Amino acid sequence: MNFRNLLGAAFGALLLGGVCSAAADTVKVGIIGPFSGPFALQGKNFQAGVQAYMGLNGKSVAGHDVEVVYRDLPAANPAQARALAQELVVKDKVQYLGGVYFTPDAMAIAPLLVQANTPLVIFNAATSAILTKSPLAVRTSFTTAQTTTPLGQVVADNGVKKVISAVSDYGPGIDAEGAFKKAFSAAGGEIVDSIRMPMNTNDFSPIMQRVKDSGAEAVFAFLPSGPTTLGFVKSFNETGLKKSGIKLFAPGDLTQESDLPALGEAADGTLTTFHYAVSHDSPENKAFVEAAGKALGNPAELSFPAVGAFDGMHVIYKMIEATDGKQDAQKAVDAVKGLSWTSPRGPVSIDADTRHITENIYLRQVAKDADGKFINKEIKTFENQKDPGLAAK
Ligand code: PHB
Repeated sequence: MNFRNLLGAAFGALLLGGVCSAAADTVKVGIIGPFSGPFALQGKNFQAGVQAYMGLNGKSVAGHDVEVVYRDLPAANPAQARALAQELVVKDKVQYLGGVYFTPDAMAIAPLLVQANTPLVIFNAATSAILTKSPLAVRTSFTTAQTTTPLGQVVADNGVKKVISAVSDYGPGIDAEGAFKKAFSAAGGEIVDSIRMPMNTNDFSPIMQRVKDSGAEAVFAFLPSGPTTLGFVKSFNETGLKKSGIKLFAPGDLTQESDLPALGEAADGTLTTFHYAVSHDSPENKAFVEAAGKALGNPAELSFPAVGAFDGMHVIYKMIEATDGKQDAQKAVDAVKGLSWTSPRGPVSIDADTRHITENIYLRQVAKDADGKFINKEIKTFENQKDPGLAAK
C-alpha cells in the first residue's frame, strides 16, 4: 500500500468511526399480537397505540432510533408464542419484547426472558400470576382481578342479592370469578351458580338458559374482548334475558367501544368497571385518541388495547433511556420500578414489588353522548388500584 492509499484507508476508518459514534444506533422492539383472524382488531389497536406513542414522542430516544417489528399470533397458542419470541430475540435481535393479547401466550414467553436477557412489556394479557413467572415481565394493561374487584360493591349497591357468574374457562376468567365472588360476598351478596365457558364457545343460548333457570337477579360475566364478548352480549339481549329484567354486570372487556355500534341498544345501560374509556376527559386522552384514531384510519375502531400499547411504549422508552441503548434487561426493568406518569387513562405507576400497573378503575355506564353515539360514560372513580390478585400472593 502506498502512502496515498494508506492515508485514504485511515481517513476512511476515521470517517467510519466518526459516523458510527455520531449516528444513532437502532434498538429493536418485537411486538407479538393478533394481527389477523377474529381478534385482528385487538392487534390493530396495539399497532395504533405504538404508532400514536411514536408519533407524539418521536421515533428515537436518548439518541437511539427505535425500530418496531410485529409478529402475528392470531389466537392463544403457547407453542407458537414461544417460537415467535425466540425468533424475535435470536434472528431479529430485538432488545425488547412487547404486546401479547392472551394469557396462555404470556405464560409461555415469560420463562424465556432471563436467558434471553430481554424484558417483556405486556400490553394486555391480564391474569395476575403471569408476572410471578419472570422478574423481567412488566405489565401496562390491567388484571381482571383489578378491574373486577370494585364491581362487587357496585352490584350490591344496585340492590342485587343473587348473582350467577359466567366466565371464560382460563386464567383471566378464573381470576375474575374469584375476585367478584370475594368482593360481592364481602358486600353481602350471594353467588348462586358459577359457569365456566370453554374459550371456543360461540353459541351462548344454553348459557343464557342456565342463567334464566338459576333464579339470579343478575349475571356477572367475563370473556376476552373480541367476537366472544360481542356474541355474549348479543345473546343476552336476543334470548330475552335483558328484557326480563335480569341485569348484566361485567368488567369493561364486554363493552369495548369498537363493539358498541354493533351492540347498540343491546348494551345500553350496562354498568362495567374498567381502567380505560375512550371518552375519558383529559388533555392526555384527547391527544391520544386523536393520534391513535388517525393510526387506525377509523376512530370508531379505537379500544383499550391501544392504551396498553401506548403506555407500554412509554415504559420501553424509559428502559432504553436508562440503559443507554445497551442490552441489560435487569437494569432496564429496575429503572421502571416505581415509575409514574399521566396516561391517557389517568395517573398510573409501575408497582415496584409486582411490576404491574397501579391505576384508577372507573365505573362506567353505556349511554349515548351528545351526538347520539354509544360510549362508556365514566360515573365514578376508584383511585389508585393495585392488582389485588398479586397482593394476595
Ligand atoms: C387474556 O387472555 O389475558 C385476556 C384477553 C382479553 C381480555 C382480557 C384478558 O379482554
